[in-house]
Amino acid sequence: DLAAKCADMIKEAKKICLLSGAGISTNAGIPDFRGPKGLYRTAGIENPERIFDISYFYRDPSLFYRFHREFLRALQQVQPTFAHKFFAKLEEIGKLIGIITQNIDSLHQRAGSKKVYEIHGGVWESFCVKCGKAYTYEESLKKTFEEDIPRCDACGGVIKPDIVFFGEPVKYLDKCIQLARESDLFFVVGSSLVVTPAALIPAECRGTIVVVNKGEFSTAYLPMSKVSLVVDEDIDAFFRSVNEHLNIV
Ligand code: OAD
Ligand code: ZN
Repeated sequence: DLAAKCADMIKEAKKICLLSGAGISTNAGIPDFRGPKGLYRTAGIENPERIFDISYFYRDPSLFYRFHREFLRALQQVQPTFAHKFFAKLEEIGKLIGIITQNIDSLHQRAGSKKVYEIHGGVWESFCVKCGKAYTYEESLKKTFEEDIPRCDACGGVIKPDIVFFGEPVKYLDKCIQLARESDLFFVVGSSLVVTPAALIPAECRGTIVVVNKGEFSTAYLPMSKVSLVVDEDIDAFFRSVNEHLNIV
């Protein structure tokens, strides 16, 4: 079966790398974007991707903050999933060389992962878009719940969390590509693989690719010749089965 095959691949691998997307956190209670209950379906607005569009944000930051407030509220309640813990263990036992995540929920770090590259940034820092003043997570959290649009104490400019919007450069791209090139087993877990440049990274892998994703994902940038396993199952259920063969969590 697929779990046994995956477990064998992990046993043989020496340098595992993971690209995770929003699907790895849905079992924690954070909705994804393009899945059946994804934000882009439930947002109830036209062109929902504009929530995270930088030029739209500069014109009207209130739309982003309306959704971000809900996200921050959810973030205070959630716990890492089994899959987050499974990949933290793979690092601990010396099998995994790094995690590239498109997520901003920091659940990988909270599960114990050390080498995490948040290619789309995170909520741990915020900056004034006008004067650049930095705000900690606690400061921005307080402001976000107290003010409709959080504004800078120093200059009144709009504060923006250090997450990557559409139209902004991603972070750590060179390092992420280097990780993929070093890896002999590359997992893509819970991503629709439609957003570039993140979706371009798996192709850089020298070894073999395993995709774990329920439902459709884009193969536009994915060399299927390198893909040795596609698992169309729930992420936690699948990695629990894999773990039954490995007993690492
Ligand atoms: P998507 O929402 O596009 O894709 C998540 C995928 O995970 C979907 O294919 C789901 O079907 C699948 N999925 C969800 N829950 C699952 C589960 N429990 N088991 C198995 N599969 C599951 O999320 P991303 O690919 O991460 O960027 O989206 C990429 C980027 O688009 C995000 O980082 C964000 C977004 O706009 C920015 O805002 C810049
Ligand atoms: Zn300022």
